[in-house]
Amino acid sequence: MPRISNKGVSMPESPIRKLVPFAEQAYKEGKTVYHLNIGQPDIKTPQVALDAVRVHSLDILAYTRSEGSEGYRIKIADYYAKNDIHVKHDDIIVTTGGSEALLFAFGTVMDVDDEVIIPEPFYANYNGFSTASGVKVVPVISKIEDNFALPPIEEFEKLITPKTKAILICNPGNPTGYLYSKEEIKKLARIVKKHDLFLIADEVYREFTYDGATHYSILQEEGLEDYAIIIDSVSKRYSMCGARIGCLVSKNKEVIKTALKFAQARLSPPTLAQIASEAALETPQSYFDDVIVEYEERRNVLIEELNKIEGVQVGNPKGAFYCIAQLPIKNSDAFAQWLLESFHLNGETVMVAPAAGFYSTPGVGLNQIRIAYVLNVDSLRKAVNILKEALKAYKD
Ligand SMILES: Cc1ncc(COP(=O)(O)O)c(C=O)c1O
Repeated sequence: MPRISNKGVSMPESPIRKLVPFAEQAYKEGKTVYHLNIGQPDIKTPQVALDAVRVHSLDILAYTRSEGSEGYRIKIADYYAKNDIHVKHDDIIVTTGGSEALLFAFGTVMDVDDEVIIPEPFYANYNGFSTASGVKVVPVISKIEDNFALPPIEEFEKLITPKTKAILICNPGNPTGYLYSKEEIKKLARIVKKHDLFLIADEVYREFTYDGATHYSILQEEGLEDYAIIIDSVSKRYSMCGARIGCLVSKNKEVIKTALKFAQARLSPPTLAQIASEAALETPQSYFDDVIVEYEERRNVLIEELNKIEGVQVGNPKGAFYCIAQLPIKNSDAFAQWLLESFHLNGETVMVAPAAGFYSTPGVGLNQIRIAYVLNVDSLRKAVNILKEALKAYKD
């Protein structure tokens, strides 16, 4: 049989999806499974977005321009202006989800064997995108004891080599929920300018900030125009994960010119989904106000309930809708599988994401899980109670 590529063999499985067969088996056995494992919000998509695809006037479902339809990009630029991020529509390339924006960014600024420094734990698919691009992830460890704050700048500087091309951050963070402060962004700005690196910021959770905290974008930082690349997406903002629309934003013309060539190779982002995403920009502020209240309440309940379980340590997320919980166990891969295969409380169990896949340093995060608080408060309480009882029963 012909041989699979080395790249294919080393491509990591998603830690979020690899337990799916065990969940399916649990459903077959009649168990109810609370999904704390995946960032698929249960919040309704704004009606304006759904209506726009219901009553469109297209005769042909044609390609759009590779960089996305002009009308949509002009409106995205308006959206950024409202968020005090001042870009033009031609600083934006519409992509097939934030996922494709990440691939384009990696392809645009890094060659095979180049290095990208990423504070870990980080969004697990950064490992996959790096492998796909032949790029090496160099992790800089952020710690649960510090609530996953930006590691000291000296830690970054120790890791910079001639092969380092970029620093990638996720703000607010998946899986940590950490929201970088303006001061932390300024520190990163100084370091990328000093070492002539790109700063890629995955800001797909920009709106999801709690306790009155506000998000500070890398494109709000003056002097970072040539260095900054934003990754964005409609998936979480409007609960439109299935639309598959995101964008890459940079004021660096060479970055946009190069990313556009990657965009041309795949022809066009999805046309109907751009129509929905353009309409979604009309979503009233009240939608977000309600959503933030809901997530903040969920966060409060989740953290309070987790803190009541003996031996569990958890940070206090200020943004996004995830947290990392450290459990009194040795191996969360085995624990997560056991929860689905062998445990239930009155016919109910939970699915969590083992955290090791959110680290690239081997052996780190083995006793941690990521929890997505994408369930309503009642379900969250039930799910944490199941976790509590499971921890009492589990032997590893
Ligand atoms: C931090 C982060 N970046 C990017 C993505 C990619 O999302 P999408 O491709 O749906 O836009 C996700 C999805 O969960 C994410 O959590």
